Amino acid sequence: MLAVAEKKRTVLDIRAAKGTGQPFLALTAYTAPIAQLADAVAELVVVGDSLGMVHYGMPSTLPVTLDMMIAHGAAVNRFCKKALCAVDLPFGSYQAAPAQAFASAARVLQETGAQAVKLEGGAEMAGTIHFLVARGVPVLGHIGLRPQLVNVTGGYRIQGKTPSAEEQLFADARAVEEAGAFAMVIEGTVEDVARALTQAAGIPTIGIGASAACDGQILVTEDVLGLTPGAKAKFVKPYAHFFAEGAKALSALAEDVRERRFPGPQQVYART
Ligand code: KIV
Repeated sequence: MLAVAEKKRTVLDIRAAKGTGQPFLALTAYTAPIAQLADAVAELVVVGDSLGMVHYGMPSTLPVTLDMMIAHGAAVNRFCKKALCAVDLPFGSYQAAPAQAFASAARVLQETGAQAVKLEGGAEMAGTIHFLVARGVPVLGHIGLRPQLVNVTGGYRIQGKTPSAEEQLFADARAVEEAGAFAMVIEGTVEDVARALTQAAGIPTIGIGASAACDGQILVTEDVLGLTPGAKAKFVKPYAHFFAEGAKALSALAEDVRERRFPGPQQVYART
């Protein structure tokens, strides 16, 4: 746990987790109920554009729009009483120019009340990150496997496996930190690279599919709860089986309705 336990966390609290030796938890949320569950245990809640795939069943995160992120961001931020809330900038809302990124980020902060944005990108996005931070937008970086690049990379591939890919990851991490990000997500890399990146970084690294060597971990909450029956990523470990439990509960309801056991006396209004 970070030092500030009950107060609403700020980017400074997340930044200060670096070097404490105590790993911290970040979780995604797209909806109010999941936000409440995540806020109870996580230091950071991210409204990820993975909502396109997990919540809407889209084939990738690319069709997710800024309006979708804002609608979900506002729902989630309402229930982030203690956790810092960061909202993803979706594909096409920030890559064209720093001014475009600022316009998108300003809408996110103003219309959702969230306290930070996350954007995917390494050295090539450093100028944009610097532009945002200098103008009052806290930025959570995201390097390594970047789902918004899926059409360029031809799939979701683990990063940093070759010496040149590792060098690129280090350059990206350095650039994102120097540009002023308060922390960075490292997605999909091998353990020794994640460890070395974490040791080299002056800001917290938050791993997803990047081993326990990172300063914190982030996971898609629906994966953790067993709500994504098709998920087969190696790094996913379900701690509950809500989908299977839900299927059982709904088939019990269906049977009760068909047998006229539901609604029962307790669910029926009386005249007096
Ligand atoms: O989109 C997302 O949910 C993310 C987090 C898992 C880091 O990028």
